[in-house]
Order: sequence, then C-alpha cells, then structure tokens
Amino acid sequence: MADVRVGIVGAGFMGETHAEALRRTRGARLVAVAEPDAARREELARAHGVERTHGAAAELFADGGVDLVVIAAPNALHAPLAEEALRAGKHTLVEKPLALTLAETRRLKAAARESGRRLAFGENLVFAPKLVRLRELARDAEALGTVYHQRHVFQTCGPEGGWWLDPAAVGGGALVDLGCHAVETCRWLAGRPEARAVTARVRTVDAARFGPLDDFAVLWIEYADGSTAQCEVSWLRPGGEEVTAEVFGTRGLLRADLWKGMGLSAFTETRFASVWEPSSGWVHPEWDWIWNSGYPGSTQNVVDAILEGTDVEETVDEWEAVLEILLAAYLSAAEDRRVELPLDAPPEALPLELWRAPSAEDR
Ligand SMILES: NC(=O)c1ccc[n+]([C@@H]2O[C@H](COP(=O)([O-])OP(=O)(O)OC[C@H]3O[C@@H](n4cnc5c(N)ncnc54)[C@H](O)[C@@H]3O)[C@@H](O)[C@H]2O)c1
Repeated sequence: MADVRVGIVGAGFMGETHAEALRRTRGARLVAVAEPDAARREELARAHGVERTHGAAAELFADGGVDLVVIAAPNALHAPLAEEALRAGKHTLVEKPLALTLAETRRLKAAARESGRRLAFGENLVFAPKLVRLRELARDAEALGTVYHQRHVFQTCGPEGGWWLDPAAVGGGALVDLGCHAVETCRWLAGRPEARAVTARVRTVDAARFGPLDDFAVLWIEYADGSTAQCEVSWLRPGGEEVTAEVFGTRGLLRADLWKGMGLSAFTETRFASVWEPSSGWVHPEWDWIWNSGYPGSTQNVVDAILEGTDVEETVDEWEAVLEILLAAYLSAAEDRRVELPLDAPPEALPLELWRAPSAEDR
C-alpha cells in the first residue's frame, strides 16, 4: 500500500517534533509544510527533506498530494484549521487542545463524519512506552486488587511568552495546556469510565508572569464506577518538568515517572550543555525523549488507522469527554462547588469564560 503523504501546519517546536516522529512512523512520508514564518518553514523543510512549502495552511489543504494534515499551530487555530482540513478531504491529526469549546468540538465531529476522514488529537502520553507498560500492569487485578484511585502530576516551568500568554490564542493557562494530558491519561489508564463529577481549585499564583491565565490547578474527578482521580498541573515548577502517574489498588500500587527511573543519572559541578533543566548538580539526563514521550506512537496510530481502515485511539469523542472535565474544573473553581456531569454550560463557553483570574484581594 502507498505511503500516507503528510503535511505539517505550524513549524515551531511541535511541528519539528512531529517531523521527527514521522521519520519513525512506518508508512508515512512528510511531503509538505505550511508556516507563515518563512525562516522556520524553510528550516523544517531543509532539515527533513520536505518537497513543498506553503505560507498559508489553505494552500496545503488544497495540495492534492497530501493525505494527512498534522496541525501544530497555536491553540485557538486548531478547531478552525482542522475543520477546513477535513472539509478539504484530509485526514487530520491535531495537537492538544483539539478544540477550546464544546460547540467547536461538535462541529469537528460533524465534519469528520461527513468527510469520512480520520480525526485524532495528539495525546502522546497514551503512547509513551513507560505508561503503556503501566497500563498493562494496572490490568492485573490479582496484583492490585480493586483499583480505587489514580494520581497524575504534570508540572512544567511554564511558557516564556508569545502567543502562549495571549488569552485569545491559548484559551486557558496550565489547566488547558497540561490538564488535557493529565485528564486523558487518567481516563485511558482507568479504561475510560464515565466521569460523574469534578471538584477543582484553579489559581494564578504568579500574576506578574501569567496575568489572566491560571498557572496551578488541582482536580478531583469522580467516575461512575466509584473510582476517583486527582490531577495536579502547574506552570510554576523550577528544577525540571515532572510527569508522574500513580494507580492505587487495595493490594498494590503502581508509579511511573516519565523522566526519571531508568537508572541514568549524572553529576557536574558546572553544567551539561545537552541536558534540559536541571542541567547542573545531580541530573537525570533524558534520552530519546521523542520516543519516550510517545510522539511516534501517536503518528503511527493515525497512519495505521488510515492504511488499515480502523479508528484512531484519540477520537473527537474522547476529546469531548476531556474538554467537558476541563470546563467543569474551571466552573467548579469559579463557583466553589462540586460540578456534576453532563456539564450545564453554554457550548460556546471558552475555558477562561467559565473562570476568572482572582483579583489581588482574592488571593
Ligand atoms: N503534545 C505535547 O507534548 C505538546 C507540547 C508542546 C506544545 N503542544 C501543542 O502544540 C501546539 C504548538 O505549540 P508549539 O510549542 O509548537 O508552539 P510554537 O510557537 O513553537 O509553534 C507554533 C507555530 O505555528 C505557527 N503558526 C501560527 N499561525 C499559523 C497558521 N495560521 N498556519 C500555520 N502555522 C501557524 C507559528 O508561526 C509557529 O511557528 C500548541 O497547540 C500546543 O498546545 C503540544
């Protein structure tokens, strides 16, 4: 069967990451890139031997030699670009967040159905080899007993600036950015039970840096099967990113740390040039972070679905469930109450509209 021909929209950090992931994806060939910034566009094309470059996404969508579009542009553009791509007959993989409102999500659902094309969102963590193994072990009822709770932590040092700090472009702070990962990882680990209620605290601790965006949130999710999950996300963590998942059973427990725990550690009195933060003192250098973070697994899943006529793992229906939980968390924090699902809120509501950054007196 012929390779799936791929076009990337957005040649920033994630455009480059997907280009690298696609090199390791069987049955895929990166043939085009669309990016308004000429220097970034040409750099990605040169580095990955891409045949065609476009200044605008619409040109790439009109390119008959592209089967699958990967959208890695700023958040607020995801849903409009994905809808345009689907309507142009392209299979579409969209970075998280797939859409910022339930109304957008439902429009995408309709566009995918009417076009007959695959639509997936890029939840790479469910393809991270370490978490895939954790999920296998979580199925061992003999070893774990009754699984009653999960805890997921995703903390980074937060974005530096640019569109990431523009509320209209980003749609929300740490809870939108990292909450997507945390909520979907918990759902997937638990076998995607129905969520019944969400209770959350959402804060802006560093208002000087993040202004109207949230930078710290804790969620308590209650599932219909009686189990619970706690997600903690933050843009405030110095000393290196933390991504951990824990599963608690009555007879056993599991814990995975995405970045640590495979035995590689190093020490320097100065600084390792090729190690991410922290890069001095005792450090745990990452290796093959693209593979270990699950990005090639995510692109492989979509390419296999196209070639084999199966469905993708991260469907628009899964996104709708994730977004409902995120929106419920903002509402819970804003109204200081437990929010039951299905969510009773306008489908056009943006995450930040259901919440507001606390004023100085509130903090
Ligand atoms: N899954 C993950 O682990 C992960 C990690 C980081 C970012 N992301 C997501 O990836 C997306 C991109 O983030 P990033 O860190 O790569 O940002 P970035 O700023 O590095 O790159 C975004 C690129 O999109 C380009 N762009 C802007 N408007 C465009 C348009 N209309 N058409 C085409 N390109 C356009 C920008 O010029 C820029 O080059 C975000 O939605 C973010 O949430 C996901």
